[in-house]
Order: sequence, then structure tokens, then C-alpha cells
Amino acid sequence: MRGCYAELLLVLGLLCTHGATVVFGLNLGGSGRGSCIEEERQALVEFKQGVQDDFHVLSSWGSQEEEDCCKWKGIKCSNRTSHVVGLDLRQSIFFGAFEFLSGEISSSILGLQHLTYLDLSSNKFSTLPKFIGSLTKLQYLNLSFNAISGTIPWQLGNLTRLTSLDLSWNYYGVIEDPNLDWLFHLSSLRYLDMSHVNLSKAVNWPDKVNMLPSLLYLHLSDCELSMPFSLVPSNVNSSSPLLFLDLSHNHLNSSIFPWLYRYNNSLVHLYLASNKLQGSIPKGFENMVALSHLILSSNNLTRLIPQTLENLHSLQVLDLSNNSISGEVPDLSKLSFLTELHLSNNRLNGSLAKSIGKFYKLQILDLSSNSLEGVITESHLSNFFTLHHLDLSSNSLSLKFSPAWVPPFHLDTIRLRSCKLGPVFPEWLRTQKNFSRLDMSDVGIIDTIPNWFWGLSSNIMILNLSRNQITGTVPLQWFSTRFIGYPQIDLSYNRLSGTLPRFNSDPIVLNLSNNLFQGSITSICETNGSVNASYKHLSFLDLSDNLFSGELPNCWGNMMFMSLFNLANNNFSGRIPDSICSSKGYGLQTLHLQNNNFIGELPKSLVTCSSLKVLDLGENRLSGRIPTWIATTLPNLIVLRLPSNLFMGRIPLQLCHLTSLQILDLSHNNITGTIPKCLNNFTLMAQTRSSYVSILSTYVSSSSGTSFFFTSTNIDNLLVTFKEKYVKYHKTLGLVKAIDL
Ligand SMILES: *[C@@H]1O[C@H](CO)[C@@H](O)[C@H](O)[C@H]1NC(C)=O
Ligand SMILES: *[C@@H]1O[C@H](CO)[C@@H](O)[C@H](O)[C@H]1NC(C)=O
Ligand SMILES: *[C@@H]1O[C@H](CO)[C@@H](O)[C@H](O)[C@H]1NC(C)=O
Ligand SMILES: *[C@@H]1O[C@H](CO)[C@@H](O)[C@H](O)[C@H]1NC(C)=O
Ligand SMILES: *[C@@H]1O[C@H](CO)[C@@H](O)[C@H](O)[C@H]1NC(C)=O
Ligand SMILES: *[C@@H]1O[C@H](CO)[C@@H](O)[C@H](O)[C@H]1NC(C)=O
Ligand SMILES: *[C@@H]1O[C@H](CO)[C@@H](O)[C@H](O)[C@H]1NC(C)=O
Ligand SMILES: *[C@@H]1O[C@H](CO)[C@@H](O)[C@H](O)[C@H]1NC(C)=O
Ligand SMILES: *[C@@H]1O[C@H](CO)[C@@H](O)[C@H](O)[C@H]1NC(C)=O
Ligand SMILES: *[C@@H]1O[C@H](CO)[C@@H](O)[C@H](O)[C@H]1NC(C)=O
Ligand SMILES: *[C@@H]1O[C@H](CO)[C@@H](O)[C@H](O)[C@H]1NC(C)=O
Ligand SMILES: *[C@@H]1O[C@H](CO)[C@@H](O)[C@H](O)[C@H]1NC(C)=O
Repeated sequence: MRGCYAELLLVLGLLCTHGATVVFGLNLGGSGRGSCIEEERQALVEFKQGVQDDFHVLSSWGSQEEEDCCKWKGIKCSNRTSHVVGLDLRQSIFFGAFEFLSGEISSSILGLQHLTYLDLSSNKFSTLPKFIGSLTKLQYLNLSFNAISGTIPWQLGNLTRLTSLDLSWNYYGVIEDPNLDWLFHLSSLRYLDMSHVNLSKAVNWPDKVNMLPSLLYLHLSDCELSMPFSLVPSNVNSSSPLLFLDLSHNHLNSSIFPWLYRYNNSLVHLYLASNKLQGSIPKGFENMVALSHLILSSNNLTRLIPQTLENLHSLQVLDLSNNSISGEVPDLSKLSFLTELHLSNNRLNGSLAKSIGKFYKLQILDLSSNSLEGVITESHLSNFFTLHHLDLSSNSLSLKFSPAWVPPFHLDTIRLRSCKLGPVFPEWLRTQKNFSRLDMSDVGIIDTIPNWFWGLSSNIMILNLSRNQITGTVPLQWFSTRFIGYPQIDLSYNRLSGTLPRFNSDPIVLNLSNNLFQGSITSICETNGSVNASYKHLSFLDLSDNLFSGELPNCWGNMMFMSLFNLANNNFSGRIPDSICSSKGYGLQTLHLQNNNFIGELPKSLVTCSSLKVLDLGENRLSGRIPTWIATTLPNLIVLRLPSNLFMGRIPLQLCHLTSLQILDLSHNNITGTIPKCLNNFTLMAQTRSSYVSILSTYVSSSSGTSFFFTSTNIDNLLVTFKEKYVKYHKTLGLVKAIDL
């Protein structure tokens, strides 16, 4: 999905503060029993019969206990006339909410002729019927986040009272529109969102949009819009007083800029991320005087001329991240209202000028992933009274502050990955008591973690201290008191000790690999009675290369979203529990249990692991035959390692069905019989196929306390190291040779 979700969230967030709202006078049918109009009640009952309601969303509709349809879920009746004027069946798009209505929108909805408000968003309705155009009193129509396919019916043009229309993000379907002719009639429209509608054929969309006299908010993100379109010269009068324009994730190039100048007095928010803009922001831009948010990330801009922007006195947010801008960090200090400056992932070089400190109002400074070098001292940062987000990651910067320095800011997000901070644990961090995200991975700390660190924040959502040489024992209390929500925790590649924590939160990522943690991990099943302390959303669990021991508990069925599970190189013993493969979310992709003391046969429950790509159970004391179902039920296996166990019997012929297999190692077992001829084919495959395999895992993340989004993480790195580790198998054993009889 091209990483749209973060963008999407931003849009949703903006809606809350800037979205057009429809005000209509109604309440929840408060006028006592039976205020509901019988014909409308009938229409609602028929509507219910017409949709597929697998999750009993509409259980209150038509129930014996409640006759008054004005009191049914989602219904709003007019105070005065008792007519049904609002139908709100929006489901939650938040993670974990799986309830939705599906099927078609039934024509019985036409019995509700007084509807002004219709929200069926976040369901799985599959059609946008033309009869919706007959609900002519509608002011608000929201069909976003459904599964609608097809062309938008021109009858929508009859909804002349509409002030808000949202047809966006029908990801499960394909909406397209060849010309947008129907739009012309919607003269009351203030808010229009058609993001993810395929408008590749609607070359004249700018004209259509420009004719809407009331339009304030326009979202056309991910609409396949491309150049050229019939670019009406910018001296044509604009009739839309557009405030907000989102054209991100399209194929627009710099020829779009002149078209924007017609909104030079009105436009406040402009989103053009992920397009094909090149060169620099043109001079004409200096007339966009109302602009406060300018988002041009993920384009191919190469230069930034500060003078172009200096007239933009209202500019608060400037995002030029992920472009190709080179040279020194531009001096934008004349933009005195700037609160957010995003310049990450460009080609900025040189050292950071002290003038950066002139941004007194700056709240977010992101200069990560550039080629900046030199030393950052307190004089760069001592004017940042309001800064809460600092990202200097992935440059060649050293941070040298005097130990007694007390920064003026209280950061929420601290990202300093691969900056030079060590070897001593940075003392100034002591003043940052409320961070929720801290990334100090690979910063060269060779030190014992100071005691004050454990008492800093109690709102931690992201913590990454990996790849340092940090020593010390993690206090048990810390894990169970300092994290909130769905934290992601990476302490890997240090010298930390302690036992597996019991959380008071629900971590998504827990990576403690390559440390000195020890003891049993049965605490992972203990929930201390709180639903939020359940490991329910754990997707990545890596405890490899530690000193853990004991038998595995059997509660993995609670962890529906497990994607990567790595307990390799510990002292675990006992049988492999049945529940290990219970991931229902996106399916377990990677299972590493090698180099422990597991005994017994392979659990039959592994057959449910059909997404599995890497299965490594080598160097244990597993026994029995190599089951034939491995081949038939795990068709996606890329790596199958079972060496140095006590397996016996023949090699099942069925292994030849594993057409994706690249690494097969059955050596050092008690396997007899002949090598199936077909196995020769694997050597061929392994030689011809790319050695670079990626495994995409989808997991849930949390960007703030309340919002969630899906993203995908590429764990190539993991596989690359994995491959490096196993190069020796290619070399010394080879694939077929690895079947050591
Ligand atoms: C609905 O009626 C009640 C009194 O019956 C009144 O107080 C309230 O303001 C009305 N609400 C609207 C939105 O008209
Ligand atoms: C439509 O519904 C979605 C959620 O289902 C919401 O995010 C969006 O803001 C709504 N659109 C409008 C115009 O209110
Ligand atoms: C749309 O409006 C026109 C006239 O205003 C009417 O003739 C037509 O039947 C309407 N279409 C629908 C689908 O309601
Ligand atoms: C959009 O529509 C065009 C023309 O119909 C088609 O070629 C293109 O593949 C569609 N894009 C997507 C993402 O479906
Ligand atoms: C632009 O507006 C002016 C004044 O309202 C009007 O005289 C002129 O004809 C308009 N131009 C166009 C091309 O519509
Ligand atoms: C934008 O793309 C169109 C069509 O490919 C092309 O004609 C035009 O020259 C491009 N403009 C710029 C500034 O690259
Ligand atoms: C906006 O652009 C028009 C031409 O399109 C120009 O005449 C006008 O001066 C500009 N307004 C500002 C504030 O620059
Ligand atoms: C950066 O921009 C390129 C296109 O210019 C895009 O393909 C890539 O996904 C973007 N990366 C990020 C992290 O947004
Ligand atoms: C970015 O623009 C430069 C020239 O300005 C060009 O050489 C390069 O290929 C472009 N990169 C992409 C990804 O379009
Ligand atoms: C920064 O990059 C520019 C152009 O890419 C180059 O000319 C300049 O020498 C570089 N400066 C430093 C300090 O590396
Ligand atoms: C290997 O298997 C044979 C029977 O298949 C058995 O007799 C022998 O004891 C086994 N060897 C080991 C080391 O388990
Ligand atoms: C092995 O490869 C050869 C040649 O590519 C092919 O003819 C044969 O059918 C393959 N055998 C199996 C079992 O896939």
C-alpha cells in the first residue's frame, strides 16, 4: 500500500480539527416511547434484512425490547418531526475491531426520505447504488473504508445539498471515475474526499474542482492523477475558496505548481508528498501567503532556495523529507513561526550551523538520514524551549554536552541512532523525564546503565538501546511500570541481564536477543488480570542468544499476531508446545528454536502454520520421523533446517513439493534410505534464484496513545544475517550434501 497509512493517519488527525462538520438539529429520539414513524421502522427492518450482518451490529434493530426505532443503534430522529434524519453505522477502524456489515446497500433505505446524514463508513459494503441519488435531503454522505467497486453513478449529482462527501479508501474494491461530471452540481459541497478513487482518466479534474463554489477541503490522495491535464492558466478566476488540498501519492510533476497559484490567498494546507516534483520550489510560490502546512516529502526536489519561502509568514510545518536536496542545511531562520522542520533523508552535508538555534518556536526537528557531520553542542539547542521531537539519526554527528547541561526542552521523541554519544551513558538524558520514544541504538555507549535511567519515563512506547555495550541488570519493576499501550522494545546486542519481564502493557515488538537474560519465560502467560497486560498483540519476539531455560509455556494461542518467533541459542528444554502456531493475524512467518534442548516429536499443530517461511529446529534432541505433512501443509517454506537431532526413518518424497525451498538441512540425524532424486532440483533452484529473500510482516503499531495503523516491516536484515550465517552450509555441506547419511 505504498506506506500510505502514516499519511492517512495524518489526514484523519486533521479531520478532527479542521473537518467540515454538518450541524443538524436532532437528538436520540428523546421524546418517549413510539416516537418512531411506522413506515420508516419498516424500511429499517428491511434494510437490516438486506445486509449481511455476521457480527450482529444491528442486533438492537427490530428487537422485542425496543419498539422505538429512534432508539436503535445508529439511528437519529428529528426532535420535531420524529423522522429518521441520521443513520450512522460507522464501524471502528481501530485495530482489533473486526465488526462490519457487508453485502449491498439495500434500496429499502429509500424509505428514509428525510435522511440528512448517512455514514456507512468502515464496513464492507460492495456497491455504491445509483438510488442513493434519490436521498435528496442528504447533507453528509460517508462511504469511506468499504469494499466498493465500480464507477461512481452520475445520480450522485442530484445530491445538491451535500456539504460533505467521502468515498475514500475503498481498499477492498476499485472505484474509478472517468470524468467527474456529476460533481459539477454539488454547489454546497465543502468537503470532498475521493482518495484512492482511480481518476486516471479524469484529465479535466482541476476544472471540475475549480467550479465548486463552496469547496474548502479536497482530498485526492492516491488517485492515479498524472500530468498533463488541461491546465487552465492561473489567471482564470478561481471560485473555490480552497483551504486544504491533498494531492499526495499521485504522479504529478512540477507543472502542477502554477495551477496552485490561483489559490494563493486561501490555501492553508498543501500536501504533495509522493509525486514527481523535481528541481526546486518555484519563485511563484512566494505568493501563497496563507500557507501554514507545506508537505512535499518523497519527491525528487534537489534544491531549496530559502528566499522563495521567506515570504510565507504563516508557514508552520515544512516537510521536505525524502528528496534529493544537497548542500548545507538551508538557513530558514526568517520563518519565525515554523514549528516543524522535516528534512530527513536528503543529501544535506557539512556541519550544522548555529543559526539553527534561531527557531525559537520549533517543536519538531528532523534532520535524520543525511550526511551531516561535526559536533552538536548545547549552543545549537539551547533556544529550543518548545522542542519535543528531535531526530538526528543516521548522520555522522557527535553530541557533546557538558555533563551539567540542563536542556530547555522536554522531549517526547528522542532519536539519535548511530550518532556518537558514548562511551559514557549521556547524563543530560536524566532531565528528559517524559519521553515516549527513545532510540539510542548504536551510539557507542560502553557503560553500565545508571540507576536513574530506570526511573525516567513511565510513558514509553518505543525504546531502542540496541547495539551498544550496555551492562547492568534490568529491574523487574521497570518492565511492569514504565511502558504504555503497544510498546516496541529492542535491547538487543548488549550485555544486559535480568529475567523475562511481566509487562503492564501489550508489547508488539520485544527483542532482547544477544544479552545475558536468564531464567524461565513462563511469565509471558501471566496477565495480572489486566487486559492490557496480555501480550495479545505481540508480533515480533526475539529472545535468541541469551541464557533462558526451562520448558516453554503453552499460551501462545493468545498471541494472535505473532509473525517472528525466535528462541534460538538458549537452554530451553521439554516439548515444543502445541499452541506455538496459533497466529491468526497474518500468520507466523519465522520460527527459530535451534540450539536448545527440545525433545519429542514435531507437534502436529505445526500444520496450521501455513504462512511459515523459515523453520529452524536444528541442534536439539527432537525425534521421530520427519513428517510428510511438513511438505504438504507448509508450502511457503524457504528455509527448513532440522540438523543435529534424533530424527530417523526416510526422507519423505513429498519434500520435493516445497518449490520455494532454498536451504534444506537434514544432516546429523539417524536418517536412512535413499535420497529422493528430485532433491537434486533444489540445488539448481538455489543457484538460479536470487539469494536475497525478503519476508514482509504486517504488524500493528501505535503512533500515539489513541491511534493505530498497520504497516509493514521488512525484515530483510534479519534474513541477510541469517543467510550470512548459513553461507557455510552452502559451502561446506551444500544443499543435498547437507542430508548427511
Ligand atoms: C430537542 O428537544 C428538546 C426539548 O424537547 C430541546 O431541549 C432540545 O434543544 C432539542 N434539540 C434540538 C437539537 O433541537
Ligand atoms: C468518514 O468516516 C471515516 C471513518 O470511517 C472518517 O475517518 C472520516 O473522517 C469521515 N469523513 C468525514 C467527511 O467525516
Ligand atoms: C435527479 O434529478 C432529476 C431532476 O432534478 C430527476 O429527473 C431524476 O429522476 C433524479 N434522479 C434520481 C436518480 O433521483
Ligand atoms: C486505474 O485505471 C487505469 C485505466 O482504467 C488503469 O490502467 C490502471 O491500472 C488503474 N490503476 C490501478 C491502481 O488500478
Ligand atoms: C473574473 O472575475 C471578474 C470579476 O468578477 C470578471 O469580470 C471576469 O470576467 C472573470 N474572468 C473569468 C475568466 O471568468
Ligand atoms: C510534466 O509531465 C508532462 C507530461 O509527461 C510533461 O509534458 C511536462 O514537461 C512535465 N513538466 C515538468 C516540469 O517536468
Ligand atoms: C494571486 O495570484 C494572482 C494571479 O493569479 C495575482 O494577481 C495576485 O496578485 C496573487 N495574490 C497575491 C496575494 O500574491
Ligand atoms: C522516498 O521517496 C521515494 C520516491 O522518491 C519512494 O519510492 C520511497 O518509498 C520514499 N521512502 C520513504 C521512506 O518514504
Ligand atoms: C531525480 O532528478 C535527477 C535530476 O534532477 C535525476 O537524475 C534522477 O534520475 C531523478 N530521480 C528519480 C528517482 O526520479
Ligand atoms: C556538500 O555537497 C556539495 C554538493 O553535493 C559539495 O559541492 C560540497 O563540497 C559538500 N560539502 C561538504 C562539506 O562536504
Ligand atoms: C538409528 O535408527 C535405528 C533404526 O532405524 C536404530 O536401531 C538406532 O538405534 C538408531 N541410532 C540412534 C543413534 O538413535
Ligand atoms: C527436476 O528438474 C528436472 C529438470 O529441470 C525436471 O525434468 C524434473 O521434473 C524435476 N523433478 C521434480 C521432481 O520436480
